[in-house]
Amino acid sequence: MTDREIDYIYEFKKREYAEHKLRALFFEVTSRCNARCEHCGSSCGDFVPKDEITADEIKSVLDDVNEHYGAKNIMLYITGGEPMVRKDLFEIMEYAHNLGFRWGMTSNGILIDEEADKKMEKAYMETVSISIDGTKELHESFRRVPGAFDKICKGIKLMQKCPTISDLQITTCVNKKNLDQLDDILQIVKDLGVKDWRIIEVDPIGRAKGNTDLLLSPEETSRMFQYIIETRKKNPDMKIKYGCGHFLGNELNIELLGTCYFCFTGYWVASVLSNGDVFGCPDIERRPELIQGNIRERKFSDIWENEFKNYRTIDRTSNKKCKACPDWKVCLGDAFHTWDWDENKPNFCVREMFKEEYDKMDKAVKVFLEYRDKILKGKAEEAKPKKETKKKKTIKKTTKKDAKKATSKKPTTKKTTKKVTKKTTKKRKK
Ligand SMILES: C[S@@+](CC[C@H](N)C(=O)[O-])C[C@H]1O[C@@H](n2cnc3c(N)ncnc32)[C@H](O)[C@@H]1O
Ligand code: SF4
Ligand code: SF4
Repeated sequence: MTDREIDYIYEFKKREYAEHKLRALFFEVTSRCNARCEHCGSSCGDFVPKDEITADEIKSVLDDVNEHYGAKNIMLYITGGEPMVRKDLFEIMEYAHNLGFRWGMTSNGILIDEEADKKMEKAYMETVSISIDGTKELHESFRRVPGAFDKICKGIKLMQKCPTISDLQITTCVNKKNLDQLDDILQIVKDLGVKDWRIIEVDPIGRAKGNTDLLLSPEETSRMFQYIIETRKKNPDMKIKYGCGHFLGNELNIELLGTCYFCFTGYWVASVLSNGDVFGCPDIERRPELIQGNIRERKFSDIWENEFKNYRTIDRTSNKKCKACPDWKVCLGDAFHTWDWDENKPNFCVREMFKEEYDKMDKAVKVFLEYRDKILKGKAEEAKPKKETKKKKTIKKTTKKDAKKATSKKPTTKKTTKKVTKKTTKKRKK
């Protein structure tokens, strides 16, 4: 990436912070759950909290957001806990759909049956992400729900016929226990006929905080990146995504995420937690000082307009080391979901974690970019040239082009609208 492009990204971020246009709203509709995953970032279980937001409270937030920002401009992401333990979930989401919101859900998939599938269709669910973290044996022990795996697979088969769903995705949270099972999980994804596989790594929050049996070492994280790159190469018909992101170096970010690095929390993204607290991204460590307000006391729009100040400054994650770093203008101290709030430093710093690995990763990406370029030009047989000078030229060209594409990238919402509009005429698949 050139200095000019880096400066452009830096200025772009400053502008976006100032404008803070809400684009994605996460609703943690409950903190209850029918599973007890070892890694759960929100430490969910089957206890019933007294202060869970009611259907009416959720609906009044939706009215407020619609009035101030326009339902059609915002994507709702329903999460939990396990959203499907709420009996009124689909009634609420039908209300959201009728206001004009598009919405999707992340679920552990255990409760999806024929009845739920019909309700999803009626409430016009457009995207769904189902968690699969291992083979049947590992998934069930990791999530502590015997018998869950077959139910999930059955649920996925049902949803594949649902005409409103334009994107059915499987999410795998990579940790020490399943890193060596990624090929097995890929096979499961393929056997289910799913083309969209999202890989995330376990964050040090909730039950995973300090859990060295789960958290990946830098070397293991690097292996995960290599795996994604290699597997994409071998499976061009599949969407193998990596998210939520970290700053990984400009080359690798463009390769893995299709864009340069952004942490959107607090200026594009907000969440309403299950007790009505308004927060940044729900994956950020839950700390009292990060709660921006509560929808029981103030309107969401008032909180969005007047709070979130710590997320809307270029110094949002500033510390001496980061500010002196050559990558500061794009990285800005990396992601909030791994920020160490006590020490005021990033828990994930590509330069610190990888050192030599960082160079190796960057090299692997460059080779892959070049390989892909050749394939695209129909020159697969020449895919591994060894000429150093030629290699450098090709890399520079690809990176520049990709960087431009990334900086001019529009929020995904528009793309999805197009796709969905097409789908609306579709009948239930047989
Ligand atoms: C919080 S869960 C809520 C939805 C649902 N209960 C599920 O498990 O899919 C959403 C996603 O976050 C992931 N997740 C949970 N704890 C995490 C952690 N500590 N780090 C990263 N991802 C985590 C889950 O594996 C799941 O894919
Ligand atoms: S990760 Fe999801 S399924 Fe697992 S305990 Fe947390 S909320 Fe429940
Ligand atoms: S030192 Fe800070 S700015 Fe530089 S790469 Fe690490 S986290 Fe990012």
